[in-house]
Amino acid sequence: MANVIVIGAQWGDEGKGKITDLLSRSADVVVRYQGGVNAGHTVVVNDRTFKLHLIPSGILYPETECLIGSGTVIDPQVLIGELDQLEKLGISAANLYISETAHVTMPYHRLIDRASEDQRGSHKIGTTGRGIGPTYADKSERIGVRVLDLMDAEGFRDLMHRIVPQKNTILERLYGLPPLDAEEVITQYLAYADRLRPHVIDCSLKIHDAVKRRRNILFEGAQGTLLDLDHGTYPYVTSSNPVAGGACVGAGVGPTIIDRVIGVAKAYTTRVGEGPFPTELQGEMGEVLCQRGAEFGTTTGRRRRCGWFDSVIGRYAVRINGLDCLAITKMDVLDELEEIQVCVAYDIDGVQVRDFPSNGRAFARCQPIYKTLPGWKQPTGDCRSLQDLPQAALNYLQFLAELMEVPIAIVSLGASRGQTIIVEDPIHGPKRGLLHADLTEAIRSAS
Ligand code: IMP
Ligand code: MG
Repeated sequence: MANVIVIGAQWGDEGKGKITDLLSRSADVVVRYQGGVNAGHTVVVNDRTFKLHLIPSGILYPETECLIGSGTVIDPQVLIGELDQLEKLGISAANLYISETAHVTMPYHRLIDRASEDQRGSHKIGTTGRGIGPTYADKSERIGVRVLDLMDAEGFRDLMHRIVPQKNTILERLYGLPPLDAEEVITQYLAYADRLRPHVIDCSLKIHDAVKRRRNILFEGAQGTLLDLDHGTYPYVTSSNPVAGGACVGAGVGPTIIDRVIGVAKAYTTRVGEGPFPTELQGEMGEVLCQRGAEFGTTTGRRRRCGWFDSVIGRYAVRINGLDCLAITKMDVLDELEEIQVCVAYDIDGVQVRDFPSNGRAFARCQPIYKTLPGWKQPTGDCRSLQDLPQAALNYLQFLAELMEVPIAIVSLGASRGQTIIVEDPIHGPKRGLLHADLTEAIRSAS
C-alpha cells in the first residue's frame, strides 16, 4: 500500500495528466486537492478527445474512486459540462465524489476576475479568467459559498440575498459593470445543486476509510510549485497551494498517511501568463520548443512561453515538496536539437546564486548560467527502456538527477500511455532512500 502525492515541479502543464493517468491504474482512490477549472488536461478515450478541468482523469478506470477535495473550488457549470461529456462517452461518473466543504465559483467571481485583470493594466497576472482568485479570496474573507450551502435551498437563498447586493456594489461602482439578479443566480445554481447532489459527500471521511482499508490513494496536484500562493513567484501565482503540503489540507488528511511525493517536470520549461521566467527563449529556439511540444494551454488556448530546463527552480521544487523522485516528461521534444542548455545557477547583479530567490524583483533580474550538453539528434518516441535511449539522452537525464539530487523514476517520450519508461514504479517500488540509490544505479548501469 502506498499513498502518493503527484505535483507539478515547474509552472504547471508539466504533463501531470499523463503521469497521474499512468499511476491511476494502481490507485484505488484519486483525490484532487486544490485549484479549480483553471487547470486542464486532455484525455483521449476510444479515439475521442475530451478536456477535463476538475474531474480527475482516474474516472476513466471504472473501479477508481475520484474525489474533488475540500481545498478545490468548484464551478458547477463547468463540472456539469464534464459530467455530460463523460455520459456521452458512456463513462460512468458513479465513482465521482465532491467535497461538501469545497467552495463554489459564482458568476460574480468570474466577472470580478476579468474586470480586476483589466484594471491591473501592465501589472496584470495573466489569470485564466475563470474566477479562481475571487473564489479563494471570498473563502478567506469568509463570505464564500460552500457546496453544502448550495445543497440547502433555503440557506442558499438567504446567502445570495445577502452577498449578491454586496457584489453588485463592487461590479457597478468599481468596475462599471451591470448588476446581477440574485433570483436568477439562485434559480441557476439550485438547478446545478440538484444535478450534483448525488456526488456530494464528506471527502475526509471517505479518505480516512480508504486509509483504514489500506487502499492506494493518489493525491493529484493541479498547476505547479512556482504557481503556489505561498511559495511561488508571487504575485504571479494562482490562489491555492499546489505544493505537496497542500494535499493534506486540501484533502483533509494528516501528513502521516503520505508515503511518497512525486514531482513532474518537463525536460524543458514553460509558463503561461505573466511573471518572470529566467530561462525563457524569445527567439527561434522558443518557437521550436513551442511547436514541437504543442505548447498551447488546454484551458485558455494561450501560447505557452518556452525555455530551457531550470535546475534552480527544480531544486527548489525538490525542497518545497520533499520530492522522493521525478517524472521527466516530453523528452522527445528535444530529439532534434544539436545542443541543449540547462540552467545550473543564476547571476543576480554579478553574484552567482544556486537557490531560488523569494524576492520577485530579484528573481526578475536573474540571468541564467547555462551548461551546454550535446543533443542526441534521433527519435526517442519508441524507446521503452533506459537501454533503448541514446547515450546523450541518458547523460542529459543523469545530469538533471545529479543537479536536483533526486532520482528520476519515470521518463515520458510522447503523449500516449505506451511512450513511457518506468525506471522504478513509484507506487510499488522500494521506499525513499533505497529508491534513490537504486535509481541512480539503474541510470548509471544503463549508460
Ligand atoms: P488563475 O489560477 O486563473 O488565477 O491564474 C493565475 C496564474 O496561474 C496565471 O499565470 C495562469 O496562467 C496560471 N495558471 C493557472 N492554472 C494553470 C494551469 O493549469 N497551468 C498553467 N498555468 C496555470
Ligand atoms: Mg494543464
